[in-house]
Amino acid sequence: MVVCSCNRLTHTDIENAVADGATRPKDIYAKRGCKAQCGNCVQGVVCLLREARKKHLQTAGILAQQVTAAPQPVALTA
Ligand code: FES
Repeated sequence: MVVCSCNRLTHTDIENAVADGATRPKDIYAKRGCKAQCGNCVQGVVCLLREARKKHLQTAGILAQQVTAAPQPVALTA
């Protein structure tokens, strides 16, 4: 879905930028080598940025739990 018609920025561009560390709308535009022009998209970019960050952080938290989870003892049978 195109979010910014001036720059042909899509929601996938936003998700990819967040995965690469973007935290502000400015970072999203910079990742595509552009910047906001008319400004009509900024509200939508902010909303999608928040959603993408939330999703990204939740995924990272789940992965961190899996990595740091204590190993379970293995029952030995004789
Ligand atoms: S629609 Fe994004 S700058 Fe115009």
